[in-house]
Amino acid sequence: MKFLKEYTEVLDSTQGFRYFEGRAIIGFIDGTEAPAMEDAAPYAIIGDEDPDYINGSYAFAQKWRHDMDFWNKMKTEHQEKAVGREKFTDLELEDEDKYQNAHNVASQYDENGEEQKIIRMNVPYSDPATGVTGTYFMGYSRYWHVTKGMLINMLDQSDYLLTFSDILTGQLFFIPSRETLEQIADGEFN
Ligand code: HEM
Repeated sequence: MKFLKEYTEVLDSTQGFRYFEGRAIIGFIDGTEAPAMEDAAPYAIIGDEDPDYINGSYAFAQKWRHDMDFWNKMKTEHQEKAVGREKFTDLELEDEDKYQNAHNVASQYDENGEEQKIIRMNVPYSDPATGVTGTYFMGYSRYWHVTKGMLINMLDQSDYLLTFSDILTGQLFFIPSRETLEQIADGEFN
């Protein structure tokens, strides 16, 4: 803040944490269908298609609050239908066994029949003083329209997660490449 306070006003500060086995706070393994770290670059980083912004990334952040009492009262079998995977084994359910608006159905975004992917790096958070508990969604994408397509599908299909969650904040950031940041620092970027 020593450097930033002159230019910024802090509205929220949220500390996320890693939950056991990398699970989301709703108890399910998060990130299974996201590309592995070694394959992440082509999904997260802008390429030759946009030479002015090459090696940058679109980072989208959303702070979600979950009604954990609602969720914890649901039987595991119903939670699994809502997420679309088995809770303990992480195996995917057959489509006919999922709710129609299961999260892993509603969040899918296809282009020309091909499923698109982004790099998802969610963290759980919880504030014992206020009891507010949720997920800080973080998604990095080479193309903003892919993340946006997932969000639109989730809203259009009333993703099950939305029945017990509120979306409290949302921001889209453009993360410049190191080269661009250096140009900005040197006053060479117009
Ligand atoms: C913030 C609350 C959220 C939680 C707790 C959550 C949790 C999960 C979990 C447990 C899975 C299944 C495992 C996996 O494949 O990663 C999943 C899948 C997925 N989520 Fe989320 N998610 C959240 C929000 C979002 C948002 C906002 C997006 C999109 C912008 C998103 C996009 C996806 C996608 C694309 C999949 C993979 C679907 C597939 O199987 O192909 N999620 N999420």
